[in-house]
Amino acid sequence: MNIIVHLLIPAAGSGSRMKSGKNKLLINLKGESLLYWTLKSVFCSKSISWVGIIGQPFDKENILHSIKQYSKNIQWIDGGKTRQESVKNGLNNLPNNAKKVLIHDGARCLIKPADIDKCSLELNSHDAVVLAVRVTDTIKVVNKFGFIKETPNRENLWAAQTPQGFLVEKLKKAHNIAIKNDWIVTDDASLFERLSWEVKIIEGDSLNIKITRPIDIEIANLFLNSG
Ligand code: CTP
Ligand code: MG
Repeated sequence: MNIIVHLLIPAAGSGSRMKSGKNKLLINLKGESLLYWTLKSVFCSKSISWVGIIGQPFDKENILHSIKQYSKNIQWIDGGKTRQESVKNGLNNLPNNAKKVLIHDGARCLIKPADIDKCSLELNSHDAVVLAVRVTDTIKVVNKFGFIKETPNRENLWAAQTPQGFLVEKLKKAHNIAIKNDWIVTDDASLFERLSWEVKIIEGDSLNIKITRPIDIEIANLFLNSG
């Protein structure tokens, strides 16, 4: 596949909802760290030319040790207090020739290499793409007192995942505007939406969950392919 895409992996979180007392990306799954499995998929994909891992300096030694099979092929970047800050640091540390970038959460270790490539490919036709799945639950908007306000039409609802892919220059610009305006977001596509910049949805796989709570570890253990 003749596509050159850089990829950044935010890995600088603390995993507070996992309650494991450490960065959840260091949790052992089938003999390897959670982050190792994410990287394995990334390196099995065909479209990625460069990988940066964004982590907290105090985690650096443990993270690099846990992915030692790949550590020569990745660039380490120090993370920030929020995911948004971590991604911004990542963007500032991309090589100068980076034109297209995928952002992929370290915590999504069940990502399929083919879905990474699908996002890269779609960046040939769109400035911003997001892997997402249709929601199956009926989603309620709830007020602060715990009462339902409304039920959006499920036909229009998608759950956003990662990878999310962007033209580097546009994503950098969006992050800079966000800082100036104190915008706080939990994914990168949200910045484009606030700017009324188009983001194309790419249909993904519902197995690509973000490992967040202890139950997700059980799911990952069931579906990780150690072969
Ligand atoms: N992340 C990051 N920098 C931060 C916070 C999060 O790079 N300051 C990363 C996480 O490591 C993770 C991804 O962003 O790969 C998605 O975040 P999330 O699932 O919320 O992970 P945590 O923030 O670690 O978990 P929690 O919110 O439960 O503390
Ligand atoms: Mg978090």
